[in-house]
Amino acid sequence: MTQPLGVPTRLLVIDDEAIALENLVQIFEREPYQVVPCPTGTAALAALEREPFDVVLTDLRMPEVDGMRILQHARALWPDIQVILVTGYATLNSGIEAMKQGAYHYIAKPYRLDEVREVVRGAAEMARLKRENRELREQVASTTGQGTIVTQDLGMQRLLATARQIAPTDCNVVITGESGTGKELLARYLHRHSNRADSRFFGVNCGALHEDLLASELFGHEKGAFTGAMARKLGLIEAVSGGTLLLDEVAEMPMAMQVKLLRVIQERELLRVGGHEPVPVDVRLIAATNRPLEAAVATGRMREDLFFRLNVVNLGVPPLRERRDDVPLLAYYFLRRHAVTMGKEVDEIAPEAMRLLAGYDYPGNVRELSNFIERGVALATGRELLPTHLPEALTRLEVRVMHPIEAGGLPTLEAQEEQLIRAVLVRTCGNRTRAAEILGIDRVSLWRKIKRLGIDV
Ligand SMILES: Nc1ncnc2c1ncn2[C@@H]1O[C@H](COP(=O)(O)OP(=O)(O)OP(=O)(O)O)[C@@H](O)[C@H]1O
Ligand SMILES: [Mg+2]
Repeated sequence: MTQPLGVPTRLLVIDDEAIALENLVQIFEREPYQVVPCPTGTAALAALEREPFDVVLTDLRMPEVDGMRILQHARALWPDIQVILVTGYATLNSGIEAMKQGAYHYIAKPYRLDEVREVVRGAAEMARLKRENRELREQVASTTGQGTIVTQDLGMQRLLATARQIAPTDCNVVITGESGTGKELLARYLHRHSNRADSRFFGVNCGALHEDLLASELFGHEKGAFTGAMARKLGLIEAVSGGTLLLDEVAEMPMAMQVKLLRVIQERELLRVGGHEPVPVDVRLIAATNRPLEAAVATGRMREDLFFRLNVVNLGVPPLRERRDDVPLLAYYFLRRHAVTMGKEVDEIAPEAMRLLAGYDYPGNVRELSNFIERGVALATGRELLPTHLPEALTRLEVRVMHPIEAGGLPTLEAQEEQLIRAVLVRTCGNRTRAAEILGIDRVSLWRKIKRLGIDV
């Protein structure tokens, strides 16, 4: 997600020495921040109470109100704020102490300009992520109950609008979408918004049952229709009459049954297995499929007339990777749901974990994301879901060989180095200090390599 336009990062800079303050402010001349300079700690406290800031950059040692006081005050007032302290060498220990108290970072004097710029950039990013996470949490807190379709994607919202529009008509609908995209959820949504909402909704998986069983399941049977048919049994279509029936994986339905189904649609009646008397039924059919039905028609697996009867309206649910903005929202939605189910107090997703979740492709779509979060909630020990609570597939550093050996040239050392650095930077959310630690080199060396390799972070 991107920062909404018109909301620049707000940076509060505090130093009691006029020249030092001026120097600090100058560092950010070219950055897209709104910088507010403050010559005293007291003035800074007043500014913090007056308006919100994303990042505070403050000198540690100041008379009266010092950097530590500002840190405590800022964090108490604004939950997402990130505070950076500038300390002299003599007070380095206090810098470390400040980190323990929740400061984002400390910078030792004398500092390099690019170092300050870099740390503030990281803090701004962290503040943005925190704010977004909090907003998502609040948004999710207002959506309750199962069966809710959680989305902020425009395409999905248009799809839901179409669904609401056609829901009250009785026309049949085909829902297409990859596995786990929410086809059944959408079918239930259609039912809820239809005039049939007070009647029943059933789903049947046409691919899961053997032909005879499926026939008896859908159409019911008369007593004695086959060995073991001790009594008359109503089929789902009859039982759901007045309501909505979801035919999952409709293309898997055997041909003989397709003929029977066609009759239900055309004549609005059915014959129970072994029966001769047509039974009137009134059912709205929704078919779901994860492969385009046109292909099944083309290969002769599906009757064309049935296809046209079902496919009056086609709703396509996009895969999750094509609506990535939904990942954080859904992640928090599932976090809340699974935490409640498991009676755990996990209520936050660490920005790094969120970054990993956002970068994944989700071949299993929303169901896969839900499973990740469920597992994460089960593993989490504190209030926060961390990268370590996510499956290996997400957290593994993928250092792939760029040019396969078979294809000729081996990857150069430089190419490998670049890939590794990129991977580590992604993992640390662009935090170079942490990246350098993981890579086992000092920050300056890392900085040089980033520059030389032209890696933009
Ligand atoms: N937008 C969404 N908001 C909330 N939950 C969702 C959303 N989309 C899917 N889910 C949840 O993800 C899971 C999978 O959804 P669903 O069963 O509807 O998918 P499907 O497309 O029918 O999958 P399949 O093709 O495997 O049958 C369900 O638990 C469902 O509640
Ligand atoms: Mg389904």
